[in-house]
Amino acid sequence: MDASSRPPAGPGDLAARSLRQVWHPCTQMKQQAQLPLVALSHGEGPWLVDTDGERYLDAISSWWVNLFGHANPRINAALVDQLGRLEHAMLAGFTHEPVVALAERLSALTGGVLGHAFFASDGASAVEIALKMSFHAWRNQGHSDKREFVCVRHGYHGETLGALAVTDVALFRDAYDPLLRHAHVVASPDARDARDGETPADVARRAAADLETLLTQREGRIAAVIVEPLVQCAAGMAMHDPEYLRRVRALCDQHGAHLIADEIAVGCGRTGTFFASEQAGIWPDLLTLSKGISGGYLPLSLVLSRDAIYNAFYDDETARGFLHSHSYTGNPLACRAALATLDIFADDDVLASNILRAQRLTQALAPLADDPRARHLRHRGMIWAFDAVLPDTPGAASAFAKRFYAEARARGVLLRPIGATVYLMPPYVLDDDTIDWLAAQTLAAFDATTTHGTEVPA
Ligand SMILES: Cc1ncc(COP(=O)(O)O)c(C=O)c1O
Repeated sequence: MDASSRPPAGPGDLAARSLRQVWHPCTQMKQQAQLPLVALSHGEGPWLVDTDGERYLDAISSWWVNLFGHANPRINAALVDQLGRLEHAMLAGFTHEPVVALAERLSALTGGVLGHAFFASDGASAVEIALKMSFHAWRNQGHSDKREFVCVRHGYHGETLGALAVTDVALFRDAYDPLLRHAHVVASPDARDARDGETPADVARRAAADLETLLTQREGRIAAVIVEPLVQCAAGMAMHDPEYLRRVRALCDQHGAHLIADEIAVGCGRTGTFFASEQAGIWPDLLTLSKGISGGYLPLSLVLSRDAIYNAFYDDETARGFLHSHSYTGNPLACRAALATLDIFADDDVLASNILRAQRLTQALAPLADDPRARHLRHRGMIWAFDAVLPDTPGAASAFAKRFYAEARARGVLLRPIGATVYLMPPYVLDDDTIDWLAAQTLAAFDATTTHGTEVPA
């Protein structure tokens, strides 16, 4: 039988073929066999539908990227229109309306403080760009000793070697440690670390004091401090007071270091404002954006910078330019998806309607606040999290995460805890009934996980 006359693969076939030929991300492939892959047929708004017709509410926005649902008619229409015009062209020596309009609109969203959008694809590539830009800008300005970076304890900035060097998550980093050019790691402002009587702002000031000590010790050596504003997502939705960002901004100014705000996960309205930095009333020197900016449609990332950084490269000499590139830089389709995404923000007053969505989900999850099996119920914007109280034994957190994932999936919800932390990061399209249903399934999955132990169900 040749390929064209074969019947379409059934769901079992698709999962089996995938296991044979696809190397899945962030996955120990041997363990994947324990819980079969979900073979998807299509998406509909916040739902993912598998080849058997089972529906799963995408309560983590497919790794935090999807903002306005799957197969969104407005983003689809923009892409169809763009497909008839220009699918891709190199951006060196050429330009096009989608990339220009997107750069203009993003700069306007920062009040013109940031701009000169430099485009790439995934989040990690934007982080690489920001690190290189910082170092090279200092070098061009005669400060070639500024070549060290500072990151925050448990911070996450991606998996490529440069991004891993400023990432402090042992599971992702340890194997590659010998390859990395180490960054300094300073205390996290995680509000969960409050000591007796401390407010979140006190924790923020204590963490900032740690950074101050380091900047003083390494005076003249630090190129940039990289932070995830307001929520360290991959650390387990560790949330902090905006005071931290204000302090870090002031310290970077005092000590002549760039501030890089990695808004890859927290940008695009996720924390309640379009950029998380806005809630601290500060702007960084470099800002990275990805994930939600294309509505979760296409790989797109970018770095916005201040004029001072851009001007440090603007010169007659070629080598003083920023000669970084990726083949798909500024891809017109991805930029059109991003423009359609920004249109939805503007036309539907999304940030305002998210306040109402957030109130409802916060209320529906409230029982967890008094549940002795949960602690640190927390929320910012369109992110919710709580930590399961588990025995202090090795493997307990990862066993909990696997079991919870399976229990939620059996109830038609896609939720993937990070260790003991259960979090919700839904797309911005849930109606009241779906919000209530999501909260009920989350509580039921938590009940089932804590009642039945941590063995993964078949
Ligand atoms: C804050 C932050 N930075 C960078 C990245 C890396 O993005 P990507 O996975 O698209 O490379 C992530 C991904 O989760 C992230 O959360």
